[in-house]
Amino acid sequence: MAHKQRLLTGLQPSGTLHIGNYFGALKPFVDLYTEYESYLMVVDYHALTTMRDPEALRAAIFNIVRDYIAVGVDPSRVVLFKQSDVPQHTELAWIFECLVTVPFLMQAHAYKDKVAKGLEANAGLFNYPMLMAADILLYDTDIVPVGEDQRQHIEYAREAASKFNNAFGEIFTPPTEKIFEGVGVVPGIDGKKMSKSYGNTIPLFGTREEITKAVMGIVTDSTGGRPETVYAIHALFRDAQELDVLYENNTNNYKALKEALIEDIEAVVAPMREVRNSISDDDVRTILANGAATAGERAAEKMQEVKARIGVTV
Ligand code: TYM
Repeated sequence: MAHKQRLLTGLQPSGTLHIGNYFGALKPFVDLYTEYESYLMVVDYHALTTMRDPEALRAAIFNIVRDYIAVGVDPSRVVLFKQSDVPQHTELAWIFECLVTVPFLMQAHAYKDKVAKGLEANAGLFNYPMLMAADILLYDTDIVPVGEDQRQHIEYAREAASKFNNAFGEIFTPPTEKIFEGVGVVPGIDGKKMSKSYGNTIPLFGTREEITKAVMGIVTDSTGGRPETVYAIHALFRDAQELDVLYENNTNNYKALKEALIEDIEAVVAPMREVRNSISDDDVRTILANGAATAGERAAEKMQEVKARIGVTV
């Protein structure tokens, strides 16, 4: 029997998840994962490109695993693991780094953006796409649900696969990104892409007060009385027809529309918040240990094949 297709994604534990992460990557994953052999990662080594506070990183790791479970991931139906628990990720990243060129990596958005802002990029940020390629290719992943900002990184993973396959023989499957229409770029409260680094987020598991504060801060540039950014965020929570009636009935009444949005966010998040609060640190440890064991076994098998191909096995 042909094996099930593989689905894999990962999120950085580098702060609290926002509704852009949820609609762009997590919800698509939750909607799809039971139909595939699925892998969900906590990409803690990627987070190390920006984080320097061990306590904050540890807390973010616990939090993100809770977030995964709270949004509906059943840990018994997915390999849920932490990147740093499976050393083959960094090992394979090195091999890919030896196959791609410096100018190629210099074209990566994450690196270019940092340099454009006049900031010094660390070598980890520069090599970041090859670690992500290793994350994906180690498990022969077919589909990667992500937001639009990760599209280029999946192209880089295909390039890494093809460079390796050309040099040493076909052992890597080229992955395909899955970017859902309408959620590829969730706007932040200032109308630009929602992003931790822009400080324009609505936290997914914020308290009601935090969510209220963020929503009340959404810019209200409008065309014909409809605040476009409020509407775009609201469209993630309610269907378009209902929303159009609501917005027509409240033309220019931005406060009422924002209050309706807060209620709609709360209706989705409140039950998740309850699940989230019921997960202990030990539950998280157990989930990650189980995931690391399974992922580690599969990664070790793949890495043996890689090592034999490149000629380091004697
Ligand atoms: P990260 O942690 O920055 O973001 C996690 C996921 O959230 C999506 N996302 C958005 N989607 C829509 N609208 C937005 N405003 C928005 N902001 C963030 C991102 O596209 C992403 O899917 N490099 C990755 C993590 C990673 C990974 C992987 C992903 C490492 N290895 C392997 C897939 C497969 C990252 O930094 O995502």
